[in-house]
Amino acid sequence: TATGPNMTTPRQHVANLVKEALGSLFPDDDGMEPLVAACTNKFGDYQCNNAMGIWSKIKGKSSDFKSPNAVGQGIAKALPASPLVDKVSVAGPGFVNIILSNSWVEERIHNMLVDGVATWAPNVGVKRAVVDFSSPNIAKEMHVGHLRSTIIGDSISRMLEFCNVEVLRRNHVGDWGTQFGMLIEYLFEEYPQWDGSSEEHAVDKLQELYKASKKRFDEVPIFKEKAQQAVVLLQGGDERYRKAWQQICSVSRKEFDQVYKRLKVSLEEKGESFYNPYIPAVIQELDSKGLVAESEGAKVIHLEGQNIPLIVVKKDGGFNYASTDLAALWYRLNVEKAEWIVYVTDVGQSLHFEMFFTAARRVGWLPKGTRELPRTTHVGFGLVLGLDGKRFRTRSTEVVRLVDLLDEAKSRSKQGLIDRGRDDEWEADELEQAAEALGYGAVKYADLKNNRTTNYTFNFDQMLDVRGNTAVYLLYAHARICSIIRKSEKDIEELKRIGNVNLVHENERVLGLHLIRFPEIIEDALTDLLPSILCEYLYNLSEVFTKFYSTCKVVGSEEETSRLLLCEATAVIMRKCFSLLGITPLYRL
Ligand code: ARG
Repeated sequence: TATGPNMTTPRQHVANLVKEALGSLFPDDDGMEPLVAACTNKFGDYQCNNAMGIWSKIKGKSSDFKSPNAVGQGIAKALPASPLVDKVSVAGPGFVNIILSNSWVEERIHNMLVDGVATWAPNVGVKRAVVDFSSPNIAKEMHVGHLRSTIIGDSISRMLEFCNVEVLRRNHVGDWGTQFGMLIEYLFEEYPQWDGSSEEHAVDKLQELYKASKKRFDEVPIFKEKAQQAVVLLQGGDERYRKAWQQICSVSRKEFDQVYKRLKVSLEEKGESFYNPYIPAVIQELDSKGLVAESEGAKVIHLEGQNIPLIVVKKDGGFNYASTDLAALWYRLNVEKAEWIVYVTDVGQSLHFEMFFTAARRVGWLPKGTRELPRTTHVGFGLVLGLDGKRFRTRSTEVVRLVDLLDEAKSRSKQGLIDRGRDDEWEADELEQAAEALGYGAVKYADLKNNRTTNYTFNFDQMLDVRGNTAVYLLYAHARICSIIRKSEKDIEELKRIGNVNLVHENERVLGLHLIRFPEIIEDALTDLLPSILCEYLYNLSEVFTKFYSTCKVVGSEEETSRLLLCEATAVIMRKCFSLLGITPLYRL
């Protein structure tokens, strides 16, 4: 079977057979697309759902078919012979149930073991993508929302990269807002001698600087005015203001990097300031195409179906979030030549994205169809809640420091390992690495396993539970499989060369089938950009493995070779899932 960068998933293989069948049954209707899905019942592995739709088109007209069931029978009969298929049956109103042949499934798993899991990467039809994620704001707190964006965006990037898409991981940091005016003005008032090299400590505690300057901004009218002028000076390129801006950015950057380093997330910063020089030409283009109108001194774009217009130039002539995003989109499409641009932010920004995507469509940068290339997608996510059901905070007013949160997840995990006596058996750095994998893995998985659009409750006890649907449970499950293989004292590479996978027991077959569906899961997770689909798959994989292992003796059995290969294949796919979720696997626990 064809594998490699353009690997055909089992579902697609079945769909190809159905397509042939439809073509031979209805030669005049070549627009018929096969509808094939994994089966949720035991009558099939895949099912074809075309019959009912076809029936509703042909009924009443002269036709060989007298019922939807008859259409299903017709499709079943017309399916070309294939080594893929073992049995075909038709149920109810024409569902065609297809059972795959064991030998095909077995060979596929064996090939994956020999050629590597990279050969199971589906083709998503995109060469280069931008994933715009994390994107905190300089001098403001990097909050749990940014943590969600970082975790979700990283996982989406990893899935795309697995599918051989070149991903430009973009940190669209807010480094150009009006907050800099007040920050810098405050800095200069407090430290009149400030020249960039002196008084460096002044920006060390950025959070405090931000709070103090905000207070003055709200309370002292003359300061407010000066702060607004400072923005103009900064944006005009004044050297002293530029220097202060750079220093503030670099302090923030160091803070952000601590989080990225812990999470092992790589990102390339192209902040809002980067796109600033591109804005005027972009506004001009929008204007020349007749999109821009004047409204109360501002330049706006009126969009059909929206109550409020999209402001692209403010009353004072300054640019804003939307003008920057339009310029960034222009840059990503024309300079970076990205075919898919994905934005990961909280759902609160949905309207902003919807509006500027619509504007981009109207100016002709994006095609009409939202799934045609080049395309843009807003990946929105819900709030993180505390145990009290309110927005997650440590104290009532203070937001949580992300590094503290991650450190706590790690130290709790470490304590758990010590409680189990691992500190006696392991070297200190193994303990440290395991604690990190468990702690950070738990935080990531707890976030990713939810449908991202819902709010989720941040709960250490729950996410670190060894028995729940958690990364900890899954990492243990993986380590257990590795230990089965270790204890067999067999050389897996040797087994791959001389042995075969044989799906004898029913639970072996269920496991095998779940394994070969992995590429489809990636496809589905990327269709809707939902990492939760991959989490669910991973959790189910550990469940079907447990079922297999509790009914099929592995080490010392007659089927030992095949079963060890199944163990290995499960471990390989589990590790791939971990890696796509940004979780570090552990081989013993
Ligand atoms: N800095 C923004 C925030 O913290 C997120 C930026 C998202 N990316 C974008 N291209 N608008 O809310």
